[in-house]
Amino acid sequence: MSQTRHFASDNYASVHPEVLAAIAAVDDGHEPAYGADAATAAFDEAVATVFGADAVGYPVFNGTGANVVSLMALSPRWGGVVASEHAHINVDENGAPERVGGLKILPVPAPDGRLSPASLERWIGDLGDEHRAQPLVLSVTQSTELGTVYSLDAMRALTDAAHAAGMRVHLDGARIANAAAALDVSLAEACAGADVLSFGGTKNGAMGAEAVVVLAPDLHEPLTAALPHLRKATMQLGSKMRYTSAQLTALLTSVDHAGVPLWKRNASHANAMAARLRAALEPLAADGVLRFTQPTEANAVFVELPRTLAASLRETFRFYDWQPGTSADTVEVRLMCAWDTQAEDCDRLAALAASAGTSDASR
Ligand SMILES: Cc1ncc(COP(=O)(O)O)c(C=O)c1O
Repeated sequence: MSQTRHFASDNYASVHPEVLAAIAAVDDGHEPAYGADAATAAFDEAVATVFGADAVGYPVFNGTGANVVSLMALSPRWGGVVASEHAHINVDENGAPERVGGLKILPVPAPDGRLSPASLERWIGDLGDEHRAQPLVLSVTQSTELGTVYSLDAMRALTDAAHAAGMRVHLDGARIANAAAALDVSLAEACAGADVLSFGGTKNGAMGAEAVVVLAPDLHEPLTAALPHLRKATMQLGSKMRYTSAQLTALLTSVDHAGVPLWKRNASHANAMAARLRAALEPLAADGVLRFTQPTEANAVFVELPRTLAASLRETFRFYDWQPGTSADTVEVRLMCAWDTQAEDCDRLAALAASAGTSDASR
C-alpha cells in the first residue's frame, strides 16, 4: 500500500473513518436484502431531509451506473442527451449510455467545462425531426470535469432554458459535494432545477456508493415505478444494500461538534487543498515555468507544464495527463485533491516543481 497521497484522482483516496464506522455499525446479523433493510430506510429518510420531502434515492455501485440509470429513466428510446464535450458520460464511460442505455450523446463545446443556455441551440432545432435523435435530456456536471463550478444563477438559467425547450435535466453530481461546498450552499440548492441527480459518494469519502436521486416532484410517480426495474436490469441493484446505504447516510447526516455534515467537511477540505496547491504553484506560473489552464473552483488544478517537469514530479506523485500541451514538449495535467490530501502533500509537490522547474530552466 502506498503511503504517498497522490494527485491522480479523488478515487485514489481511502475511505473516511466515519464511513467505515457506519459500515461497521450495520455489520450485525441478518437483514433483508435488496434494500428492504433498516439502513436503507434510514437512507430514504436522509434523502428526504436533505433533498426535500418528495425526493427519493436509489443506491447504486458507481457513478457510471448512476448516470446510465438516470439517463435511461429520463429519456425515451429515441432520445438524445445534450452534454458538454468533456462530460464523463461522453468521454469516460466507454459509451455506456449508448451501449447500455441506447441513448445518443449530443456533445457541445464547453471550453471551461460549463454549458450555457446558448449552447443548447446547437441541438434544439432537431426537435421534431424524425431523422435526428431527439434532444430531450440535458446532462450537466457540477462541479465540472474541468474543475469549474456553475454559480447558482448560471445553473438556474441553464435548467430553465432546458425545461423551456421541453428537456429534462440530469445532474452528474459525482462531485456535487465539492460544488455545494464551494458555493457554500446546501446539496439541494446546488442542484438548482435539476430533475434527477447522480449523487456521488465515492469521491467524497465512501467506498463505492452512489445514488440516483429523483428531485422533480412531477417525476416522483413515473420514476418510482420505473427506477427499481431499470436499476436491476442495468446490474446496479445491490443485494447487501445496507452497506451501501449506510455509507451514503453517513455522508449526508454524520455531523461534527459544529453540526457540519461529513459531505461538506470532506468536500470543503478537498477544495481548500486545491486552492493551497494552486497558491503554492503560483510563483512558478508567474515565472513562466507552468501555466494554469482552468480556474480552480473546486478540488482540481489544471496546469500545462513541460513534459520533463511532469516526468520528474512523477518520480514522487501520480497524476493524469489531461491532453497534449500547446507545444510538443508540454502537457496539460490534472492535479486532483481529495478529502485526505494534506497541506504538506501540496507544499511538497510545489517544492519539487520549484526545484525541478528551476534546474530545467537553467539547462
Ligand atoms: C464527472 C464524473 N462523473 C461520474 C464519474 C463516475 O465514475 P465511476 O463509474 O468510475 O464511479 C466520475 C469519475 O471519475 C466523474 O469524474
